[in-house]
Amino acid sequence: MNNYLFVANWKMHKSVAEAVSSARSFAGLAIDVAGSTDVGIAPVSLALPSIAGAGERGGLLLYAQDGHQEDAGAFTGEISLEQLVSFVDGVILGHSERRHVFGETNQQVHEKVVSALHKRMRVILCVGETLEERQAGGSQEYVRDQLLTALEDVSAEDVVLLDVAYEPVWAISRGDVSVKPATLEEITEMHTFVRGLLDERFGDTGGSIRILYGGSVKPENAVDILTLEEVQGALVGNASLELESFSAIVQSLPHS
Ligand code: PGA
Repeated sequence: MNNYLFVANWKMHKSVAEAVSSARSFAGLAIDVAGSTDVGIAPVSLALPSIAGAGERGGLLLYAQDGHQEDAGAFTGEISLEQLVSFVDGVILGHSERRHVFGETNQQVHEKVVSALHKRMRVILCVGETLEERQAGGSQEYVRDQLLTALEDVSAEDVVLLDVAYEPVWAISRGDVSVKPATLEEITEMHTFVRGLLDERFGDTGGSIRILYGGSVKPENAVDILTLEEVQGALVGNASLELESFSAIVQSLPHS
């Protein structure tokens, strides 16, 4: 495992054919930065078997964007972590669109985290406050609840599979390039807070958990965000759809 992780969250974009073809070119980026940096993609679930079956990915990590905690059952429209596990390296859990568009609760996120770690899948656990929470002065409390509920019953041995992404909901572009990321001060403050919670929860072993920032990361702001000592990578949506802009973000780290 490297010190930095960058994941392209393609959300519900790209056809299967486009995702397979993009995965091939993103694998080249993973090879270019191997040794200092891990690179992953999270395509639409339909594309996962084709990408997984396409052969050598040069270390490019393959993530699902979500997965159901039950292995099987009457859950129309869902895909279980158990059904995904043979195709992917890991899964993004608790993304704000899952929480706020689809009503996922902290408890459900917790069940998913436990289920994924039990299957030895890598997990990127997303946390982040809404604008209302921030304006009410409750950002830290909100993030603490999300983080500590999700991590209940997670043992120190499982921590090697875990990364956290801080994604303030109000900074996620959802395709709107005029949305601004959190300020460097806001990012530093929340990452320091999350690191403190992880230290308390897991002691020294928690040090291996990378804390990624997500929310309107673009080539223009990547250097400033990524050179913050508290930031160990990024979860990128809109600017990850094209290799050129995602690559500029990944390569903005001085040592990658
Ligand atoms: P964005 O999305 O980079 O388009 O803001 C980030 C995310 O939702 O993970």
